[in-house]
Amino acid sequence: MLVVTTIKELTQVLAPYRSTNQTIGFVPTMGALHAGHQSLFSAARERHDVVVVSIFVNPLQFGPGEDYETYPRQQSLDEQVAKESGCDVLFCPTVKEMYPSGYPQVVHVKQGADVMCGRSRPGHFDGVATVVLKLFSLIQPNEAFFGEKDAQQLAIIKQLVKEFFLPIIVTGCPTVREEDGLAKSSRNVNLTAEERRYAPVLYEALQKAKASRKRDTSVLVSDVLATLTSIPVGEIDYVEAYEYPSLKKVNEANALVIVALAYQFQKARLIDHIVIDFN
Ligand code: PAJ
Repeated sequence: MLVVTTIKELTQVLAPYRSTNQTIGFVPTMGALHAGHQSLFSAARERHDVVVVSIFVNPLQFGPGEDYETYPRQQSLDEQVAKESGCDVLFCPTVKEMYPSGYPQVVHVKQGADVMCGRSRPGHFDGVATVVLKLFSLIQPNEAFFGEKDAQQLAIIKQLVKEFFLPIIVTGCPTVREEDGLAKSSRNVNLTAEERRYAPVLYEALQKAKASRKRDTSVLVSDVLATLTSIPVGEIDYVEAYEYPSLKKVNEANALVIVALAYQFQKARLIDHIVIDFN
């Protein structure tokens, strides 16, 4: 596996693959790699000649007071994980490399960012769309792999590719969980021991809502809220339910519905969701 940090090196490393028409599978990450990321690497490995992974903690997608500074960074461990997962090229640029002139132009996401994480983290998806567009321009992959865990992000990236006519297939992969149901996340390492004990309640609450098969979305939301209120640490950020994948408001569900939540622990904001099929 080759580790490159500059755009110049990246371009040089990818040139022979491009000139021999080898296909490129790409997985963008912010590092602190875990089994969720590895599932994306495996999907890329199965389908493509070359697997490119990026590790870049993107300052533009963090708001003031968010966890940019404390976001876990573990370069040498990540290199090992990426290598063992069969990645060919690991791109780990600096902020200066990705934003040499600061932020003179950014992508503004005008649709799909007014609910869920878009509402509670203003500007977050502009930051995500901007960095992903930059990475897509540099790597020019045939296919890019994203986790369904970040459902809103996946929907926005699919729209980005469509809007800018990018010749890239965007593929979503299922959420990988711990044995107790907690969705794997780089941020889980920032949970205290007590918070970690309560964190599985997030998914339990969603599963309970799914099992209830209640069609009234306001009831689905209030049931999840009631379960989350029993957690004695941290705070509920949001619980919302929408038609899926349009993320439009729906009162009485009769097709797919997403119930999504964000929960703020002391040093880790966790998200999770469930999709219920009322067809
Ligand atoms: P990051 O949180 O590192 O996640 C990188 C990719 O891994 C995303 O597509 C995410 O959905 C996926 N992922 C994370 N946890 C997962 C899990 N438990 N199961 C399956 N997939 C999982 O998402 C980002 O980074 C950034 O916003 C990025 C797209 C890299 C742009 O900066």
